[in-house]
Amino acid sequence: MTDRRDFLKRAGAVLLAGSAGGCGGAGSSPAPGVPRSNFDAESTAEEVTEGIDLNGKLAVVTGCTSGIGFETMRVLALRGAYVVGTSRSLERAREACSNVIGVTTPVQLELSDLDSVVDCANAIRSLNAPPDMLICNAGYLGGGGRRELVNGIEKHFAINHIGHFVLVNRLLGRLYMANQGRIVVVASRTAYKDAPARGIEFDDLSASREYGDRRAYGHSKLANVLFALQLGKMLRGTRITANALHPGVINTEIDRHMGWFSQTGFALLAALGGTRTVEQGAATSCYVATNPGLGSTSGKYFEDCNAVRISEGHLHNEAMAEQLWRVSEELTQDYLVTHTGPDYNEFEKALMEKPTGERE
Ligand SMILES: NC(=O)c1ccc[n+]([C@@H]2O[C@H](COP(=O)([O-])OP(=O)(O)OC[C@H]3O[C@@H](n4cnc5c(N)ncnc54)[C@H](OP(=O)(O)O)[C@@H]3O)[C@@H](O)[C@H]2O)c1
Repeated sequence: MTDRRDFLKRAGAVLLAGSAGGCGGAGSSPAPGVPRSNFDAESTAEEVTEGIDLNGKLAVVTGCTSGIGFETMRVLALRGAYVVGTSRSLERAREACSNVIGVTTPVQLELSDLDSVVDCANAIRSLNAPPDMLICNAGYLGGGGRRELVNGIEKHFAINHIGHFVLVNRLLGRLYMANQGRIVVVASRTAYKDAPARGIEFDDLSASREYGDRRAYGHSKLANVLFALQLGKMLRGTRITANALHPGVINTEIDRHMGWFSQTGFALLAALGGTRTVEQGAATSCYVATNPGLGSTSGKYFEDCNAVRISEGHLHNEAMAEQLWRVSEELTQDYLVTHTGPDYNEFEKALMEKPTGERE
């Protein structure tokens, strides 16, 4: 057994195995003030949403074509939500949507291209309903130890954080109009296992000083958690909540860019029962997005369907979250909109401007 573990370690499974294991772990404790659920690492997305009626709700799931995103879209649609699912390829998004029972719409989204992010947000804003759930699920994990840049920013950070930062900004005005808008950011335990010890490397977002796939991925996932923390703070007093989560270590296609050695390690880890199913992987996203008991829970970090506080790393570092917000704004200012209140679209404005008698 020890030999097998050693092999897995050497094979690079450690990239994700850093996040493996059961609920919480050393340094993890229940987050105060948040209702505890009866769900855990074994729960599935169908189980955590059982009995919840999402008819009349609009959900957006980024990265709907495989793994956790597909299962999240499938289960939200199963419970009656109208789901917008995104992919870099409209064709792949269409195919994923066509494999789901319920009402879905495919939209193209390339998170490394901020024009594409704006187009995606505009497509969602043109729908005649505000999103009730925005699940920032799409994610990139590189392989081969090769540093890549997107507009001067390290690629993991650009895709996993900056792209979603702009998407949320462009949709916030619509989320204000939902009865209870929920922003759910799919992060990872690598946010405290693998991110740089100093936290966000504000003076080196291109990772020129030090680069490793695992470190860069963890760095971007720490940004995901801090983004939700800051959103939670800024949205206090509104009907919108924002939370981040670790979905578990799930046997998906997230390792597609990793080398053969690492992929084999991950496959072995799965074969040895070290990973969970996608049905379990989508549980925490669906729980945080839909559970009626979480209507006022915001700025928290969840693992295994429960909010936790992590003593390791910088997940709850408010000063770092604030700085990340400012830096992200500076980096993306040409793509952001300023919010002064709910963002009614043309259709809704026309409805409101009509004399009462003319309204249908
Ligand atoms: N699997 C795990 O063990 C694990 C652990 C911790 C956290 N997570 C997180 O869970 C989330 C879902 O991961 P997964 O395991 O389900 O991975 P996956 O099967 O690889 O799915 C990733 C999704 O993201 C989309 N995507 C990738 N790059 C994109 C880009 N540049 N722009 C827009 N969309 C992009 C992909 O869509 P297209 O290729 O069709 O564009 C795909 O639908 C990710 O945020 C990941 O970091 C996963």
